[in-house]
Amino acid sequence: MSASLLLASNRGPVSFADDGSVRRGGGGLVSAISHADAPAGSVWVCAALSDADRRASRTTGGRLAEGLAPTGVRMLDIDPVTFDRAYNAVANSMLWFVSHLLYATPSSPAFGERSRREWEAYTEYDDAFAAALAEDAAPGAAVLVQDYHLSLTPRQLRQRRPDLRISHFSHTPWAPPEYFRLLPDVIAHDLLTGVLGADAVGFNSARWADAFARCCVDLLGATYDGGSVTHEGRVTRVDVHPLGVDGRELVARATEDDVTSKLPTIRELVGDRQLLLRIDRTELSKNIVRGLEAYRELLRRWPEHRERVVHLAFAYPSRHDLPEYREYTGAVQRVAREVNEEFATPGWVPVHLEVKDDYPRSLAAMRLADVLVVNPLRDGMNLVAKEGPVLSDNGVGLVLSREAGAADDLGADALLVNPYDVSQTAEAMHAALLMDRTERSARCERLATAATAFPPSKWLADQLACLAP
Ligand code: G6P
Repeated sequence: MSASLLLASNRGPVSFADDGSVRRGGGGLVSAISHADAPAGSVWVCAALSDADRRASRTTGGRLAEGLAPTGVRMLDIDPVTFDRAYNAVANSMLWFVSHLLYATPSSPAFGERSRREWEAYTEYDDAFAAALAEDAAPGAAVLVQDYHLSLTPRQLRQRRPDLRISHFSHTPWAPPEYFRLLPDVIAHDLLTGVLGADAVGFNSARWADAFARCCVDLLGATYDGGSVTHEGRVTRVDVHPLGVDGRELVARATEDDVTSKLPTIRELVGDRQLLLRIDRTELSKNIVRGLEAYRELLRRWPEHRERVVHLAFAYPSRHDLPEYREYTGAVQRVAREVNEEFATPGWVPVHLEVKDDYPRSLAAMRLADVLVVNPLRDGMNLVAKEGPVLSDNGVGLVLSREAGAADDLGADALLVNPYDVSQTAEAMHAALLMDRTERSARCERLATAATAFPPSKWLADQLACLAP
């Protein structure tokens, strides 16, 4: 195989169930690239994530049948122990925690011998991607490497194939140098030089791009001129490509039967009250617990909202192999229960927490919501904040964390909050619930325009333009 455009990400466009049936891969990255209209003949290299994926990968020699995804798919069958160390221990623990500033530093992290072993596994796993990409790429091909799982791949690939044009895009934030340097020196150095192996590096927000460049300057002694980083004679451009949504496609999806059939149940649940909605994967960075605490404070401080609002909180399972995530899910359930114990009255349940992933139901709820709360501690972009206004039937009010990349694009018409400030979040919920309908609709319209300004197809085209010879 000899492709002129290749994509690489840990999670691919499809996954397999135990009975061998195929499903669409989940998560923001996958849906963005799936909607980006990659040209015919492109190849997407991804990892087998489960035993069923591994079986499918083995029976096809890793090259999945045509037509399963918008591109050809090469699924890498990486040894499960190596994969577990690379994905759970390094990508989802170390790197996710660093980029989202999640450590409770008095007790963690503590990097010992085990971290070194895990780092070796991560290096090996990234190199397996580099090897596959090197094998499948036509001379001079463009290779778009995605996310923190594959930070070393650009450099490893360049060593194998100096002729390729390589980019790296981070869908997450990047940590500022004073935080990034808590990583062991060797690891911090490898990460930065790994990414700098690319010709072009992209981020969702100028804040993350700037943090990356400052890490290169402070930790590597590189130079940065505001547009590119130079290190050991190599120049890597640093760009901002904010990812948005394809409005037409999203709205069309939300009028399909599986979505409209969910509308009556939600309407019945809400009745003539206002609907306050949140939709997240249950990740520590999503800040669901403080969001529920803010709702509790709203009901305490402004009793007029009692029985006048229903909070639907969709908190879908994520990364349950990690104990921190399992504990966090427990904490979310506990606070939701406490709020209901304190305020429920006959005929009114203040919070409905749903943990079973249901995409059509999420779209239906976004059509009906009066207020959408998106309050992550930190987020590369956050596409829910963009999808909500686009899908809203009645003009939704948006309460948005200023620490989400989406705040760059939506800040003018959202109610911005400091995600650590529970009282301020409660006040923003209060203001959004009381906002005059005409103003709310006008803001929502502007939010939808901003949310659709950079659809995935543009996002992809802009990255390719940055790689143009
Ligand atoms: C979120 C992040 C992406 C990341 C993905 C991985 O969607 O925004 O940057 O690639 O999580 O999730 P996973 O379920 O594959 O661990």
